[in-house]
Amino acid sequence: MTRKLPKVIVTRKLPDSVETRMCELFDTKLNLNDEPMSREQLIEAVKEAEVLVPTVNDKIDAALISQAGDQLKLISSFSNGTDQIDVEAATKKGIVVTNTPNVLTEDTADMTMGLMIALSRRLTEGTKAVENGSFKGWSPTWMLGQRIWGKRLGIVGMGRIGTAVAKRAKAFGLSIHYHNRHPVDEATSDELEATYWDSLDQMLARMDIISVNCPYTPATYHLLSKRRLALLKPNALLINTARGEVINQEALIDALADNKLAGAGLDFISSEGGISPELMKLSDKGKLVILPHMGSATIEGRLEMGERVLINIRTFMDGHKPPDRVIPGIS
Ligand code: DGY
Repeated sequence: MTRKLPKVIVTRKLPDSVETRMCELFDTKLNLNDEPMSREQLIEAVKEAEVLVPTVNDKIDAALISQAGDQLKLISSFSNGTDQIDVEAATKKGIVVTNTPNVLTEDTADMTMGLMIALSRRLTEGTKAVENGSFKGWSPTWMLGQRIWGKRLGIVGMGRIGTAVAKRAKAFGLSIHYHNRHPVDEATSDELEATYWDSLDQMLARMDIISVNCPYTPATYHLLSKRRLALLKPNALLINTARGEVINQEALIDALADNKLAGAGLDFISSEGGISPELMKLSDKGKLVILPHMGSATIEGRLEMGERVLINIRTFMDGHKPPDRVIPGIS
């Protein structure tokens, strides 16, 4: 007798090997052309799927969840962040939510260092100069950046990614400072020779480089507000590989334009405002390096995310607690 396979709907194209395994294990509906699903298509999906596999692009809010049929039991997100999902609404409706933690940590920490160096050593400006022919040969005073060795780095959010950034930054000769809800354990603190700041404001005012590595939750929305951005030293650099919404983007643009801040390296701009002409102007002036949400974009990372999704669905369907369950208000 063949066992009825659970109906799984995947909202975006995933790496081939992940999709193949999904088709082997479940009754899977793939999105082969990789077009983001419209709201209508998402509604159809939650009415049909037993398991939905969305990504960071899909807004799974309370209104969508309220339209889900009783058959929908699991939302196994192909993402680390779950700010795009109303986990509380899902939980109330008896739908379990899982994510893909841990597997993006090292790649995101690498990208944080990449942005830090790109910004401080003017990598994108240098590349453009070669491409547009304005490079006419080496000169002692041309394209000078700022050294990062010996500088103070303040990390906002010392979870897995923040700690991975700290380890790399220490090897680059930066001294490590951080603000977090709680200090890290003693062994980690000793290894990093880190300074804990209970007061975010106090830390921000003293750092040469700030790296934002906290999750986006209602509590961290615009954590780097206009008031806090004004605390930064005028020669400070700000790096954000967390969600754009953690920084007040309008205030950031003003601070950069008014030379109240030396530069920003962003992997992800806030969905509020999008890529404005002001942002592009700052990028042309070398005050800004923006990447299109590439922090975790490695093939290894994507395969491991797929692996987590498969394990979560499999474990759940076998009647056990999936390992990466997201608990409302905690994860
Ligand atoms: C995630 O999964 O939350 C990442 O932002 C995707 O890169």
